[in-house]
Amino acid sequence: MNDADKRIQVVVGEPLSRDILSMDGAMVLAAKGTIVTQDMLRRLANWIVEEDPRQPSERRERKPASNKMRDEIIKKLQFDDIVSQKTRENIENGIGDFFKEISDTKKNVSISHIEDSIAELVDGAPDHPDVPLKLMQLRTHSSYLFQHSIECGIIGSFIASSLNYTQREISSFSLAMMIHDTGVLSIPESIVNKPEKLTQEESLLIQGHPVEGWNKIKRIPGIDPMALMIAIGHHISADGTGYPDTVDFNDLPPLAHLASIIDHFEALTSERPFRPAFALHDAIKIILSQRDKYHPAAIENFISVVGIFPISTFVQLSSGEVGVVTRNNQENLFLPEVKLVLDPTGKQYSKEISVNLITDTYRHIVAALNNI
Ligand SMILES: [Fe+2]
Ligand SMILES: [Fe+2]
Repeated sequence: MNDADKRIQVVVGEPLSRDILSMDGAMVLAAKGTIVTQDMLRRLANWIVEEDPRQPSERRERKPASNKMRDEIIKKLQFDDIVSQKTRENIENGIGDFFKEISDTKKNVSISHIEDSIAELVDGAPDHPDVPLKLMQLRTHSSYLFQHSIECGIIGSFIASSLNYTQREISSFSLAMMIHDTGVLSIPESIVNKPEKLTQEESLLIQGHPVEGWNKIKRIPGIDPMALMIAIGHHISADGTGYPDTVDFNDLPPLAHLASIIDHFEALTSERPFRPAFALHDAIKIILSQRDKYHPAAIENFISVVGIFPISTFVQLSSGEVGVVTRNNQENLFLPEVKLVLDPTGKQYSKEISVNLITDTYRHIVAALNNI
């Protein structure tokens, strides 16, 4: 089929003359006969186009996953926070102090401040798993490393607790996630945030951060070996790629394998100077497409908690409606529970309608939406 054949003339108020398909032709986005509305055109323009993260030229064309209506709906849904504002502030202070101390080779380093905030994080964890891991509009910090460390610690704690690790393991994993990139502190921010391709020398500096991190955090009196393993091991891949090549993937403990997935997921869903943040569902697709890099059990555990369509993802339904995922069904992660937010004409529903796609045979997910 050439490009001209893919075109279709649409007139607002008139029915579609044929089905509109997704890019790969696998899904019907809007069925033949549906009356065309302005909202429908706007929504169709926002369909996710799957991207290969390894093609930088593609990255800049994508818009961040946030718009006004989306934010309003999310606010109205009143999702529980993964962590309270007060605990988040305490974590920020703890990590801030730690980064300052560890950067000064003469200073004694203490992690007691971070440990206190982690105790608060673990104690205050939501008592149910239906919490959005990240809501894009909450991001506030300009320093990527700082924000990334906080988010990795919070997500790590949530995932380890959902996987029923012991309190002690959850705390030590969360700490390890918060300080896993300490080695990055030695790299100039201009290199960490460089939008252009890195020189060979710069790449080597970046690739040195796990060993640098190991060397830095081993100064901490009584540091948990888990934190050392995760600092050195979070960029080592199962397929033999990654760095450093002095540590064997199979020598790493299961939580270190989980750490590298959380690290990648957090990085993908963060905005960077060289690309916008990927939506949660897009990040899941990218991780799954690179599954050879990860331990299969770690992938399975991670996906079982986060889902294929993570909570707070907007989804286009086969009914023409738009919903937002509020709960994942472990029996079938492709059929979560959703709250309906837009009717087939694009109008917001005024009352709350929840649908469990496992029992609702009329609706299924056609696509995840970055914007609505
Ligand atoms: Fe790293
Ligand atoms: Fe990282």
